[in-house]
Amino acid sequence: MRSSPDSHQASFMPIRKAVFPVAGLGTRFLPATKAAPKEMLNVVDKPIIQYAVEEAYAAGIRHMVFVTGRSKRAIEDHFDTAFELESELEAAGKNALLEVVRSVKPDDMVVTYVRQPRALGLGHAVLCAEPLVGAQPFAVLLADDLMTGLSGGPNVLTQMVQAYEQSGASILAVQEVPEEHVSRYGIVAGQTLNAQTTRVERIVEKPKPEVAPSRLAVAGRYILSGDIFDEIRNLPKGVGGEIQLTDAIASLLQKQAVHAFAYEGKRYDCGSKEGFLQATVEMALQHPQVGAFFRNYLKELPIQA
Ligand code: UTP
Repeated sequence: MRSSPDSHQASFMPIRKAVFPVAGLGTRFLPATKAAPKEMLNVVDKPIIQYAVEEAYAAGIRHMVFVTGRSKRAIEDHFDTAFELESELEAAGKNALLEVVRSVKPDDMVVTYVRQPRALGLGHAVLCAEPLVGAQPFAVLLADDLMTGLSGGPNVLTQMVQAYEQSGASILAVQEVPEEHVSRYGIVAGQTLNAQTTRVERIVEKPKPEVAPSRLAVAGRYILSGDIFDEIRNLPKGVGGEIQLTDAIASLLQKQAVHAFAYEGKRYDCGSKEGFLQATVEMALQHPQVGAFFRNYLKELPIQA
């Protein structure tokens, strides 16, 4: 048995890489996702994958690893240089727009890609990133969960990196959900360590409300020990023939500390139409260019309370 990171307060390996599994089929958004990646769905003026990459960048991570699949080329193009577009904008003196285009991939950001040949589940997608991540701890961000921190506060991944720097444990972002929603999520339970942190003792994927061990639901942000790869490799196929990340985490927590971290902020499930619409409305209301216009527009709509 490997020793728990809690048992020695050495300085922990920094989180240098973020993995973005973007190889899923996005069936809940058909026909929009027939030929276009779900992660390129746009909230106001940015694709949802860009919100996630910006979150990782703001958390200090500079190496982004995308696990892609068929029909996902638009993601690669989005984070590449757009040579013709940039030349046109430069020649036309449209410097503000040029800056917007170039800021998608800052010069100090490294982006690498690996393909998941078949959508065999989130655990399998994460395992595909192993050759690019190695044995170090790393972050995983599911772009279809669009996360925002509190106004003026650190974003969700930054909060998790700070928590990791204290404990060295693997960290799962969690939020409490209503009982009728527990069957949509991985649900955790364990020993409360402080107001925001629980040491996970159980994790179950999409339990029925009557058997759910709690209402603490895992959101799409993780910091995982490099040992997770061995756990994924050794898994039998789980629910629906997929290789589930949740099952690998259930194995990992038998051997080392895994913490559930109740972040400060909000999660929009942009993998569902309802969550996507909520994100669109709320991000539009906060948008510096269109926020005021949109607020007035909504007020004038003939909606009954
Ligand atoms: P989801 O199950 O929410 O996404 O996976 P999905 O399969 O794309 O969407 P639906 O349910 O059919 O509408 C969560 C995340 O894991 C990635 C997805 O791209 C998404 O970001 N994923 C899932 C993979 O990369 N590979 C997989 O095999 C499965």
